[in-house]
Amino acid sequence: MLGLFEEIVSIDYSIKLPEKKDYGIGVIGCGGIMNGAHLPAYQQAGFRVVACCDVVEEAARSTAERFSIPQFFTDYRRLLDLPEVEIADIAIHQEGRVEIVNACAQAGKHILLQKPFAHRWEDAVEMVESCERAGVKLMINQQARYAPGHRFAKLLVEKGFLGTVYHCTHHIRGNQDSGWPAQTPNFLIIDHGIHYLDLMRYWTGKEPSGVYATTVYMPGQRAIAPLVYSINLEFDRHLMANLWFNDVVQGRDWTYQFIIDGTDGWLSGTATEVTVALKEGPASALHLKLKGSWFPDAFAGTMGELMRAIQENDEPMVSGRDNLKTLAVALAAVQSSESGERVVPKSYSSS
Ligand SMILES: NC(=O)c1ccc[n+]([C@@H]2O[C@H](COP(=O)([O-])OP(=O)(O)OC[C@H]3O[C@@H](n4cnc5c(N)ncnc54)[C@H](O)[C@@H]3O)[C@@H](O)[C@H]2O)c1
Repeated sequence: MLGLFEEIVSIDYSIKLPEKKDYGIGVIGCGGIMNGAHLPAYQQAGFRVVACCDVVEEAARSTAERFSIPQFFTDYRRLLDLPEVEIADIAIHQEGRVEIVNACAQAGKHILLQKPFAHRWEDAVEMVESCERAGVKLMINQQARYAPGHRFAKLLVEKGFLGTVYHCTHHIRGNQDSGWPAQTPNFLIIDHGIHYLDLMRYWTGKEPSGVYATTVYMPGQRAIAPLVYSINLEFDRHLMANLWFNDVVQGRDWTYQFIIDGTDGWLSGTATEVTVALKEGPASALHLKLKGSWFPDAFAGTMGELMRAIQENDEPMVSGRDNLKTLAVALAAVQSSESGERVVPKSYSSS
């Protein structure tokens, strides 16, 4: 029989690609994340991108050239006219999202939509409902779930090595006080922090029942939104999570760590490394450097999951409907940071 650490070392956290992976992908928005992560990951995974589109012609043209994409457009409707486009992969900011998602749904295209799903609850609900009415799959690109450290943590929890999880923490320090992040309302919680709020739901498999958040602005920062938060998530009597983010650190310092504490042990990690210690295990902790990356490798995970769901006619892991719950937590954190009160996340039930 394997010892506990041998069993842990043998956990298969690799990204599973679907059996059928030649769906035609049409990408909308050829900016930083599309060029820097989606398309490199798709190339690596052997996915088939058949067209791309950006309102800026040069962005569409250069992306098509760089990734050998056969057709490029400046109007997304031309891309939707192509029968070979089966999946629309959308990586634009908030403006125009609802219109484009509705048009994709009406054109019968399945959709992978970049996080954050929406800044407004009503927009997210409208997109979920229009996709469900049209019978197309909608998946939100919360690819952090497929970063090796995050996925390993999920599997370790799921397999019961940590016992019952009662506390999770997430701590990150960086600096995004420039560019579009600095111009975006509620950037820190809604645009970036949503990754970590979603991970708390993913790891625990539970929904927070209450959210407390506080934020501050660094004196002299450029961003219109606060760039420091502290968020507490209450789940139930036996589980809470604390998240801290300073995104206006002065001097070079990107640091990242999460910890999951359970009744039988703990795991601490980054996106690519984990340390595990068990109550009944060996005296010293186990350190593992994991294979793969968050950027770009994890992007094959979200697209692969959408393809799997299409093939099996199943709900994708981060469906629009599921992601309403993550968005509700993020919106509750914004509301709490403004009101100073504990906020209960909204819930959605379809009519
Ligand atoms: N999942 C992640 O880890 C991650 C990381 C970075 C960015 N993002 C998200 O991806 C989205 C895009 O971010 P980015 O950094 O690539 O921004 P970006 O500004 O670099 O790119 C956006 C592109 O969309 C194009 N665009 C805008 N409206 C369009 C339309 N109607 N049709 C076609 N193209 C259009 C713009 O011209 C631009 O080229 C944002 O929602 C952001 O939050 C996610």
